[in-house]
Amino acid sequence: MRLHVVALGCQMSVADGGELAQPLIARGMRPVAEPKDADVIIINTCTVRQHAEDKALSLIGRLKTWKDENPARILIVAGCAAERLGGRLSKRFPHVDLVVGAKVIDDYPRLVEEALAARFDLIVQRRGNFAAPGVPFGWTSPVCAQVTVMRGCNFSCSYCIVPAVRGRESYRAPEAVLAEVRAKTEAGAREIMLLGQTVNSWRRRDAAGRKRRFADLLRDVAAVPGVLRVRFESPHPHFVDDALISAMAEVPQVCGHLHLPLQSGSDRLLGLMRRNGSTASFFEKARRLRSALPEIELSTDIIIGFPSETDDDFQRTLEAVERLRPAWAYTFKYSPREGTEAAGRPDDVPPEVKEERLARLNALCDGLNEKAMRSRVGRVVKILDETGGYGRARDGFRVKWGTPAAPGREFRVRVTGASKRTLLGECHER
Ligand code: 5AD
Ligand code: SF4
Repeated sequence: MRLHVVALGCQMSVADGGELAQPLIARGMRPVAEPKDADVIIINTCTVRQHAEDKALSLIGRLKTWKDENPARILIVAGCAAERLGGRLSKRFPHVDLVVGAKVIDDYPRLVEEALAARFDLIVQRRGNFAAPGVPFGWTSPVCAQVTVMRGCNFSCSYCIVPAVRGRESYRAPEAVLAEVRAKTEAGAREIMLLGQTVNSWRRRDAAGRKRRFADLLRDVAAVPGVLRVRFESPHPHFVDDALISAMAEVPQVCGHLHLPLQSGSDRLLGLMRRNGSTASFFEKARRLRSALPEIELSTDIIIGFPSETDDDFQRTLEAVERLRPAWAYTFKYSPREGTEAAGRPDDVPPEVKEERLARLNALCDGLNEKAMRSRVGRVVKILDETGGYGRARDGFRVKWGTPAAPGREFRVRVTGASKRTLLGECHER
């Protein structure tokens, strides 16, 4: 039995794709790279913007021929778009065998068992809310492992569909997180990426009844033998507090990069977006981070074209980005999502204005990115070899140096040039 998994969207979706695959792999299914070689395909979908959902729908549509070639094949559609569309998906695409929404991932092993048992005599063990510790499933290099620590989002940004499709926050027990980190480092992982929709809101009591917060979890994960690096994605600025900043500054394994989504530089728009913070509070956090960690690089998310965005609002966004100097940025055109508060307002920024603002913003962000990359030429950076001659510096920049290749090792590389979002270098140390 051969399995192919496609994960669209964010890192949570990629990690969930791995989790959806695990019970099947544990039962002897073999992952294959090509859909045509598969008996079962799982698509983990994204719906954060309409474009992401359309991509999933067109892929599902194209897989009708795959299914027609052999009707015993099984197509499973999971994730955020599956949650949003539910039964509408099976109606529109009768060749889909199972729809598993992001909220019912707990129930997935049972659902998939029911879907598969009839056809393949396959029994899938029931598991908890999160996958049991296991070897990393291969989308990222085995050197870098992802560990989900929380799911869901308790915020209610007015443009965002995530709280509706992923539900309220739930936090994984610290013992379970650490067990998975240990299992993955024993299997060769050297970098641990902690994952969650608002990952740093994590807090939970341990078995001994002690209150643990995200900063404590970071320290505990970093202390696991074999862990050279810890990263986390995606943090929410609201929970970037002194405890977290101190942990980042004090724990050498924690990498000097933080993703800090700003969304807009206009306080009027941040209010309408219900962002739970102003530009002043945002920049205060950025300032504290940079004074505690002078080498830290920040990245950000920006939405342009939110309903009622004026030239003046947009100008403030450009100024804020210039002030923040993100090493890189993810920029998005506003996309109305059914059922969100913002979708109740007219989507009144004309498409050509959105296009022009996005192009101007991207030009600014690309310029900042290039500048940051160029400033590294001539410097020596510490890299973790991920896939043999290729890896990342601690601040997140991708580096390619060729030889020697030693996956899992951290060493120094002198940067000699930069090309297309990747730094080029040569080894400085053997
Ligand atoms: N339209 C455009 N961008 C959005 N994002 C979330 N919802 C929307 C939307 N409706 C962006 C935000 C968030 C990132 C993951 O996606 O910038 O931080
Ligand atoms: Fe969406 Fe806001 Fe939650 Fe992020 S914090 S997932 S943007 S609602």
